[in-house]
Amino acid sequence: MTEREPIGVVGAGWVGLVTATCFAELGHRVVVREILPEKVQSLRRGELPIHEPGLPELIERNGERLTFTTEMVELLDGPRLLFICVQTPPTYSGDADLSAVQRAVEEIGEPNGKALVMKSTVPVGTGRTIMRDAPGLAYVSCPEFLREGTAVRDFLEPDRVVVGSQPEHGWAADAVEAVYEPLGAPIVRTDVSSAEMIKLASNAYLATKISFINEIANVCDEVGADVTEVARGMGLDPRIGSRFLNAGLGFGGSCFPKDTQALKILAGNSGYHFQLLSAVIEVNELQKRRVMAKLRKHLDSLVGKRVALLGLAFKPDTDDMREASSLVLAARLEGEGASVVAFDPIAEARARELLPSVEMAPSALEATDGADAVILVTEWPQFVELDWAEVARRMNTPLLVDGRNFLDPEAVRSAGITYEAIGRPSLGDPGSRVAPGDARARDSATREMKEEAER
Ligand code: UDX
Repeated sequence: MTEREPIGVVGAGWVGLVTATCFAELGHRVVVREILPEKVQSLRRGELPIHEPGLPELIERNGERLTFTTEMVELLDGPRLLFICVQTPPTYSGDADLSAVQRAVEEIGEPNGKALVMKSTVPVGTGRTIMRDAPGLAYVSCPEFLREGTAVRDFLEPDRVVVGSQPEHGWAADAVEAVYEPLGAPIVRTDVSSAEMIKLASNAYLATKISFINEIANVCDEVGADVTEVARGMGLDPRIGSRFLNAGLGFGGSCFPKDTQALKILAGNSGYHFQLLSAVIEVNELQKRRVMAKLRKHLDSLVGKRVALLGLAFKPDTDDMREASSLVLAARLEGEGASVVAFDPIAEARARELLPSVEMAPSALEATDGADAVILVTEWPQFVELDWAEVARRMNTPLLVDGRNFLDPEAVRSAGITYEAIGRPSLGDPGSRVAPGDARARDSATREMKEEAER
């Protein structure tokens, strides 16, 4: 393999680690600078601070090309391209907290012939500010589109690579393009602000698609259609596409909630009210609560009831708990007087800190012991294989709400468990408080559902 451009990466978080490791896989020598000494030490021992399928194998295979350090100077000694992969979490106002980016830029200074390549998601205009404050540095915006759980594949087989720069930094953009060139993906060369906007607009659009199908699901609940059938029929239209049309408990994670909020605030700060995005965010918040009304359809009160959550992470194949629906659900359930027990195959350790009052069960089956209701929160594939007859035997009241429309309704129902889903009313048991055909009772259940969603 011919010698490839050495690369520096600032930040060994999830994006930084995946990026650095994949660059090493492409044959680059990569120096990763991480501010936390304990993280650097564990990385040197080969221990990974995150769960990402395929990453440990890739790190092991490319260990020789990867160096971890706490010292910025080691980065400044070598590579021309410095990829910034630090966190930009939301502040209380909803703006992005850029302090980690600012610290990195200050520490780097303005050494000759170096380029700062921004991977972190930043508000539009950040690049312009950095170029003004550090005119000696070349600047490239190269936003990240990785998904947790499939990040390695997403990196190595991207749909597109966005490279934004101003004309005077064309050499740096050319160098970044050359790094990605072996992946064979379309490269979008553009200006810095447009590149920044592509990232925010893409995530906001996907979040909109999810909130849209969730609203369709809520209408399906009212009018007796099945949202999974509706999504199947819609998705075959190539202008719509079938991906990101799964109705459920709404979107969570480190990107969609933060980026939709950041774009809304960015627009607001510049004097534009982004109405659609406000609705997308609101729908998502209410969606996490709709399950409560579904429980109430069958259980008179939640006081003293035991509710089991299957899955805690914001999605499968990750232990990330950021903006996970389980956090809102557990708080709502406890607020109504229920006790909550949960099982997640890998997020338990992280969840323990965030949900101290939730009992963690050693297995999914044991979580259902004595439960009055089970809520499927995260669509871990192993939940499909559960022995539902055994679940029914263990539960106090055999009631399951499938918050991701993930399970085979027949498998659950044939075990004698009442099955409720999101936007699939024909599958749901009308419930003891709503007799079939009893319009008044049905109206009152619908009213309660609306009240819960608004609470
Ligand atoms: C997302 C973007 O996909 C990625 O490009 C960006 O870089 C970071 O944000 P990620 O947060 O890892 O990635 O997860 P993703 O798989 O996109 O799912 C986000 C959330 O949407 C999850 O909570 C998921 O459960 C939810 N979702 C997704 C739905 O509710 N329905 C869907 O149809 C798809």
